[in-house]
Amino acid sequence: MKIFITGGAGFIGSHLADCFLQRGDQVLVIDNYATGRRDNLTQHACLRVVEGSIVQGSLVQELMIDYKPDLIIHAAASYKDSENWEEDSRTNVLGTVNVIQAAKKARCPRIVYFQTALCYGLQPKEQPITLAHVLDSGNSSYAITKTSAEQFIQLSGLDTISFRLANAYGPRNISGPLPTFYQRLLEGKSCFVMDTRRDFIYIDDLVDCVTKAIDKGVQGIYHISSGSDYSIQELFDATIKAMFVELVNPVELRSRNPDDAFTILLDPSRTENDLQWKISTPLQEGIKKTIHYYQKYGITETYTHLQGVEG
Ligand SMILES: NC(=O)c1ccc[n+]([C@@H]2O[C@H](COP(=O)([O-])OP(=O)(O)OC[C@H]3O[C@@H](n4cnc5c(N)ncnc54)[C@H](O)[C@@H]3O)[C@@H](O)[C@H]2O)c1
Repeated sequence: MKIFITGGAGFIGSHLADCFLQRGDQVLVIDNYATGRRDNLTQHACLRVVEGSIVQGSLVQELMIDYKPDLIIHAAASYKDSENWEEDSRTNVLGTVNVIQAAKKARCPRIVYFQTALCYGLQPKEQPITLAHVLDSGNSSYAITKTSAEQFIQLSGLDTISFRLANAYGPRNISGPLPTFYQRLLEGKSCFVMDTRRDFIYIDDLVDCVTKAIDKGVQGIYHISSGSDYSIQELFDATIKAMFVELVNPVELRSRNPDDAFTILLDPSRTENDLQWKISTPLQEGIKKTIHYYQKYGITETYTHLQGVEG
């Protein structure tokens, strides 16, 4: 297959690119390196990388018409500054519209999209959250614009899959609590943990799920979730264990911010049934592998889409 990956130099996009190249597919990546890194991608005869933004509609169109992909993995997203509503709107909404219009012009039939679980709001009405849960995205610029983009994807009339994700983690991940803990512990700085719970999904399990869905030709909305939630304290404890750090004082536990959900636990039953998929990486093992990557390659920056959370 010929696969066009937006945001392919980012965490999820680059792991998918590696997987497709290994399977013998051809890959074209477009990325503006807002939060991605060129060196997340290894040179390969079947890989072409273009530095550019999906906000540039004519560029996306030219590339797509020339490349004629069989499949688009739309992983580009803006989130690093929660106050930059313009950039979130440009990349997440206009960028998505550009990708859809270009797909139609290039007669590419399929788009895969990645949605945030924050589309269900900060006070979900059920746990685990089912696919029938009402959308309530007015909690952040990121959630609003990602949800708007998902709706354009559904409106496109193309063959689409939207994966609503738990917190993905693993090598190359530089957003969320794990890279922040690692960086601060490494620098001997103090940490705090929020009194929240999250469902974590290791990148290899996520890639396995996405490729199964593509191979089976399914359509619609799917949760990618382990089916279990863990406290951030448990994540922190697993991190210090993997780093062999011993703390003098217990880590500070803080109340959550108003824009932060207490728990986000997605119901993976449709995904597990339709795709015969289940996670296979326990949290401690995934954290160990991730810490090993940070120790080898370092972290230059960490990002969050939450307001008022340091790092
Ligand atoms: N990681 C998670 O836990 C998670 C959870 C829910 C949804 N998602 C979604 O998954 C997708 C991938 O996220 P990720 O975790 O790999 O983040 P990431 O930051 O590593 O990847 C996003 C990539 O998009 C690129 N990008 C940003 N603006 C762009 C633009 N205008 N044009 C071209 N490229 C641009 C960035 O440079 C980066 O490489 C995103 O759509 C994100 O919203 C991720």
